[in-house]
Amino acid sequence: MEIQRPTTTKEKLGAFESLNEEAFIGGGEARIEKHKAGGRLTARERLDVLLDPGSFVEIDRFVKHRCSNFGMEKQKIAGDGVVTGYGRVNGKTVYVYSQDFTVFGGSMSRTQANKILKVMDMALKNGAPLIGLNDSGGARIQEGVEALGGYADIFLRNVTSSGVIPQISAIMGPCAGGAVYSPSLTDFIFMVKNSSYMFVTGPDVIKAVTHEEVSKEDLGGATTHSSKSGVAHFATEDDRNCLLMIRELLNFLPSNNLDDVPVIPTQDPPDRVEESLNSFIPDSSKKPYNMLELISKVVDEGYFLEIHKHYAQNIIVGFARLNGRSVGIVANQPQILAGCLNIEASIKAARFVRFCDAFNIPVVTLVDVPGFLPGTDQEWNGIITHGAKLLYAYAEATVPKITLITRKAYGGAYDVMSSKHLRGDINLAYPTAEIAVMGAEGAVNIISRAAIAKASDPAAERTRLTQDYEAKFNNPYVAAEVGYIDEVIEPSMTRKRLIDSLEMLKNKRDSNPPKKHGNIPL
Ligand code: HXC
Repeated sequence: MEIQRPTTTKEKLGAFESLNEEAFIGGGEARIEKHKAGGRLTARERLDVLLDPGSFVEIDRFVKHRCSNFGMEKQKIAGDGVVTGYGRVNGKTVYVYSQDFTVFGGSMSRTQANKILKVMDMALKNGAPLIGLNDSGGARIQEGVEALGGYADIFLRNVTSSGVIPQISAIMGPCAGGAVYSPSLTDFIFMVKNSSYMFVTGPDVIKAVTHEEVSKEDLGGATTHSSKSGVAHFATEDDRNCLLMIRELLNFLPSNNLDDVPVIPTQDPPDRVEESLNSFIPDSSKKPYNMLELISKVVDEGYFLEIHKHYAQNIIVGFARLNGRSVGIVANQPQILAGCLNIEASIKAARFVRFCDAFNIPVVTLVDVPGFLPGTDQEWNGIITHGAKLLYAYAEATVPKITLITRKAYGGAYDVMSSKHLRGDINLAYPTAEIAVMGAEGAVNIISRAAIAKASDPAAERTRLTQDYEAKFNNPYVAAEVGYIDEVIEPSMTRKRLIDSLEMLKNKRDSNPPKKHGNIPL
């Protein structure tokens, strides 16, 4: 719209209003209608749901692109396809950008990148989370390398901000090519089912190169990335659900790496005795149980925000509160693969532990692990390297680390799962804990092979030796005798003991030697 050269104050205010209206309409009514027909919210509506009412302050509303290729000089739209600014989530400041698909498909131009960079710099300088709502056809095709430069400038900010402020990405439409790398550098990725996708190369390129036929949804939709690849941490039902989930997650996080974890007062008594836990662990160590149920019996009001719920389900990670204070929980899940550690579980948990450590969120580890998953698939795909990631993450973490062994803690997996030896601060065990190099049957088959072979009744001898081994090692007391377990606790006291430990560790200070950075086995 042409500016009318207003002269009076009234006219100037009127012109200002018109410019605002023009900016609010983005790519125009027709495009907005098309966009919303798919059940999506507009870029501004999304911010309304994400942020506390009335808290959004927009920056750079009147920025326009400077491209003159392919007649672009005649198509300039205020805002250039992204709405940027700051606002509050439950009273705490956050910085945001929300791409507007109705303006050149939300594509990344040099000026769009500059707007995003501005809020990224502000978020870093002012120590507040950055939330990016992505809905874009990728690099602005009319611009070429300037758009690519813009992406790379964003990637650099993502990396420099990593571990300083929480960075959260929502994928609410297309996200393809190199554009996927900004979200993947952030801490958490939310996707919306059936309306978002992420891939480096799309179905057409894949068909041309590998002759595979795959739909966009199967290749890079929310379900695929939250269950198969692990790229996305949350698959949400629709735009609204996605934005409310982001608010939920933010409630657990500090604003930056120097901030304390949030405390949300609770009615749940810190000394609540949970009698049902005394009969929770099955008599047979071969019988599975649901570790999620144990978690909900212990944490404040039974509320647990699970992350990566559908990926590597043999390990559970997520946030909860204990006496109001956020904690990160890592727990083996005996219901899936008997709770074994495999490649995916190691990577999932390692990344989570590192996030918690970067942001001073204490880590509570619940252990019931029979060991690393055996098999050529695991070995050939590098379980040695990937398992070491989790070991590394626990070893380098200096936040309060509380470990509770509920049942099995065998072999290398015992060491890895926040053991005393990796600077576990408080290591607890139930009387049902079994802490040993391996399970009794496997152990006897190795160390007593000759004796069993010589016996007049080999089967009876194997059973006798297995029972001997179980009696000696399938308990927490050998580890407790040498101080690797600080306390054996009655299960009903779990909540109280975890809270006692957290309280005691509240002022913990620990550090690693100065260095440029470590060399985690990637
Ligand atoms: C400029 C774009 C655009 C782009 C879409 N539009 N993508 N304009 N640059 N990258 C415009 C369209 O021209 C159209 O304008 C409007 O956005 C909506 O697009 P449609 O195609 O009508 O929408 P839809 O059918 O929903 O399809 C969406 C889409 C498709 C799947 C995203 O537009 C598409 O394939 N776009 C190109 C994707 C792409 O190849 N991007 C470059 C990737 S390489 P009008 O005026 O008609 O409304 C890349 C490198 C990044 O991104 C590297 C970073 C390191």
